[in-house]
Formats: sequence, C-alpha cells, structure tokens
Amino acid sequence: MKKMMLPVAVAAVSAAMSQSAFAETWRMAIGDAQGGTQYAMAEKFAQLMHEKTDGQLNVDLFPNGQLGSEQDTVSSVSMDMLDLSVLAINNITPFSPSVGVLTLPYVITGPEDAKVLTQGVIGEELTENTIRDAGVRILSWAYSGCRVLSNSSKPVASPDDLRGLTIRVPRNEIMIASYQEWGVNPLPMAWSETFTALQQGVVDGQDNPYITINAMKFYEVQDYITDICYVFSLEPLIMSEAKFQRLSPDMQELVLEAGRETTAYSYEYLLDTEETIKQSLVEEHGMQIIEPSNDEQEWIERATRIWPRFYDSIGGEERLEAALQALGRDLN
Ligand code: MLT
Repeated sequence: MKKMMLPVAVAAVSAAMSQSAFAETWRMAIGDAQGGTQYAMAEKFAQLMHEKTDGQLNVDLFPNGQLGSEQDTVSSVSMDMLDLSVLAINNITPFSPSVGVLTLPYVITGPEDAKVLTQGVIGEELTENTIRDAGVRILSWAYSGCRVLSNSSKPVASPDDLRGLTIRVPRNEIMIASYQEWGVNPLPMAWSETFTALQQGVVDGQDNPYITINAMKFYEVQDYITDICYVFSLEPLIMSEAKFQRLSPDMQELVLEAGRETTAYSYEYLLDTEETIKQSLVEEHGMQIIEPSNDEQEWIERATRIWPRFYDSIGGEERLEAALQALGRDLN
C-alpha cells in the first residue's frame, strides 16, 4: 500500500467557527503530515486569524502534500490559485534563488542563528525578494531543526560511508552539490514522493530534521540517523501576494500580526519538542543515532567548498558575508 498517497481528511480548523454571511475560508497546503512543526504552525496561524477576525476568517488545512508537492504549491500560490502554503525553504529556492543563502551548508548552525537571520534585516530582505521573484509573501517562519541524515542500510559516520547508498534530496541545486562533494550523486525527488521511495527501496536515505522524520513516520522505513547539521530547516508560511494586495489595509495588518505571533510560537515549539522527539526515535522506534566522525570536520570542509559556486545565485558573495556577519562570523 502506498502509505503517503492515502488521502488525509481535510482538517477544518474549528468546526465551531461561526459561518456568518461574511465569513471567508482560505485554503492552506502543508507539505508534511500532521504532528510536526509545519502543522503546528499552520494550526496556530489559523487559530489566530480566527480570533483576530471574530470568526470571520476560517483557514482549512490540507496536510501531507494533498494539494501537490511543495514546489507545486509555490506555483499555485504565485498564480493566486491557492491562498497559503507551508513548506521547507529549500523548496522556495528554485523560485527565488537569493533565499539560497539560508540553505548554503553550515551557514545556519542552530536555532539562534536561524532566528537572527529570519527575524532580522536579512529575513526582511529575503521576504521582499520572494515577493519580487515568485509573487509569494513570507508571512511567518517555523523552525524544524538541523537536517540529519537517515538511511535504511548501515551506520554512516563519514562522507565516505555514503558510498553505495542512493540518497533522496529536494530539487535544490545547493543540496545536490553538497552531496556531490561528499562523493555521491543524490537523487532529486519531490517531497510528496519520498516516503514511498524509501519504503520501496528506490532510495536508501534522505535528510530532514528529527521532528520531520517523526511526523512523517520515516522510522517505519529508516534505521540509522547521522547527527549532522549541514542545513537548518526553515519552514516559511507563504501567501499569494496578489491576494494579500486585495485585502483591506486593516486586514493586511491582522495577517502580518498573526504571522509574527506564529513565528514566535514556532520557535518555542522547536525548543520544547525536539529533544523529546529525538529520544523517542531511539527508545520507542529503535532508530540508531550515529555521531559524525572527527567532529563533523570532513562533512563541513567538503560541503562548504561549494559556497563560491552559488555566490551569483544568492546575489553576490557580499550577501553571504552579511549573513555570516550577522551571526558573528566571517567568510574566512
Ligand atoms: C524536503 O525535504 O523536500 C522538505 O524539507 C521536507 C519538508 O518540507 O519537511
């Protein structure tokens, strides 16, 4: 049975919502299954909008890629055929390459770094860029933690241990290039197809945060996790810019306010849940966590070699310099 293809019931945010003559319903796509960062963020935003509009605005949530792959939903939101989508930042990069600065390996090394880059000047600039490039507005950020590497075949401690494994990656040039530096040719694949590919052995492994591995029940088809932190998973909530521009100024302010409050909530969600989930993957689901050899040095040295190749697409070397500077580091 193709587990991830099963339809998941549409989760109306609240059955008790008032359905007055003026009430409106927006549709929100969510790439992941229920039970993770993306869904928690979606529920929070929907609840806040409901409260802030006295029940006039309902948001229906469609988790588990029901409305298309994450990259497909960017196109749908951009064309104003879908109101909202929650997805991983790496799936926006192909539409607005400057956000690639957030997915360059080993730039963001933990939650604090992620907060600084998304909630400061750099985050504002990237939000403007996605409006300009892709016609989508980032309203809010969720934080899912480091993308760790899972596989079904063997303990992997160093990049050389990857030899012989087929690893799924998002269709993201930066992530593809990182794996190539580690000595393997990864298989780019839509997120919505990943569980089935792991289950059927089309691929041996993938990378995503602990919270996502748990929400997607990857523990059913994966045994080993390598605790690397090459990319920190950021999950923006995006809205159709065309739709945003049709809202009244008051409504725009409510939407932006709900977005900011959802970001704050999502940050706490990560801090509150990640460690417990990591433990349960081992204790309840029997996964084995492997520490990267040599303090992750080979992973870091090889992956960061790709940075210069992406300077043009992220908007110049100075954009990476600015990001690192905001994090108290420098390029060399
Ligand atoms: C991906 O691997 O394509 C995404 O990061 C998955 C996600 O949205 O959680």
